[in-house]
Amino acid sequence: VIEDVASVAQMAAAIKEMHVRGAGLIGAAAGYGMYLATLEASGAGSDGEFEASLSRAAETLRATRPTAVNLAWAVERQMRAIMGETSREARIARAFQTAREIADEDAEYCRRIGDHGVKLIRRLHRKKGATVHILTHCNAGWLAFVDYGSATAPIYAAHDAGIPVHVWVDETRPRNQGAKLTAWELGQHGVPHTVIADNAGGHLMQHGMVDMVIVGTDRTTFTGDVANKIGTYLKALAAKDNNVPFYVALPSSTIDWTLASGDRIPIEERASGEVTKMTGRLPDGSVATVDIAAPGSTAANPAFDVTPARLVTQFITERGICEASQKGLRSLFPEMK
Ligand code: MRU
Repeated sequence: VIEDVASVAQMAAAIKEMHVRGAGLIGAAAGYGMYLATLEASGAGSDGEFEASLSRAAETLRATRPTAVNLAWAVERQMRAIMGETSREARIARAFQTAREIADEDAEYCRRIGDHGVKLIRRLHRKKGATVHILTHCNAGWLAFVDYGSATAPIYAAHDAGIPVHVWVDETRPRNQGAKLTAWELGQHGVPHTVIADNAGGHLMQHGMVDMVIVGTDRTTFTGDVANKIGTYLKALAAKDNNVPFYVALPSSTIDWTLASGDRIPIEERASGEVTKMTGRLPDGSVATVDIAAPGSTAANPAFDVTPARLVTQFITERGICEASQKGLRSLFPEMK
């Protein structure tokens, strides 16, 4: 669905209700949300009112989804850029330019993640001499970013380079981003893939059917702990137990340089109806929602979990590959304090 978003309120609703989702994309959307905020503030009587209106918009956007740090990062980057100008016209122009920069940077960084990550897949293919089977969780593809995706960028690069790959796609309950989005994306690109129930991954690993795991992340601490879609932690545990390398692909906008531990990452709790109901297509193509839980049962719906750095083999970033640790991240981003 192509949706026009013409106000801060509409952008906040689009992010909160997940018309756009995925760490990179909600960061880019928030960047444009702040541009809309400058347009809405332009009628303010005084500079103080202009700035107060901007701050309210920033707060509205920031409050939409708490876990993916890209959102707060984009809002703060916009605030710094806008406040660096003095006239209203210059502030509006700067906000538009910054929104474009955030979006373009996101696409370029994901492309570079592909360039770096494909080396890992190529190495496995040379060693194995056969199709490389990659398991992924949720959707960290181009539907979660501006282009390419994080976890999927190395997969597309490998496929385009003629390296035979096959992807195990976790369905990713409760929203089914894997079955709905990742499977669709991979299909559009012609990448062989198979959708599996979330609980199947461990079994496949025990039987030597997974060569590597690549997932994305919504927030990574500077010490290497990784918040990603609920269920990622269990995949990392199974990968560790079966000596399957577990990679996390991330643009630097997803690193939280203020957090030293994953247990301080805010975990979004979403509506229980996402667990007790299922939405899908009927044979006539229409979309319907049905109840799948016992009537009257309550449900909990934490949307993300945290995988400790010790379970992550390496990070794939736009600047290269590093250990999942403070030392590893600092080696690639020495300028970050
Ligand atoms: O709740 P979502 O769909 O916005 O979740 C984000 C995700 O798709 C995943 O956690 C993803 O693996 C990392 S975001 C690129």
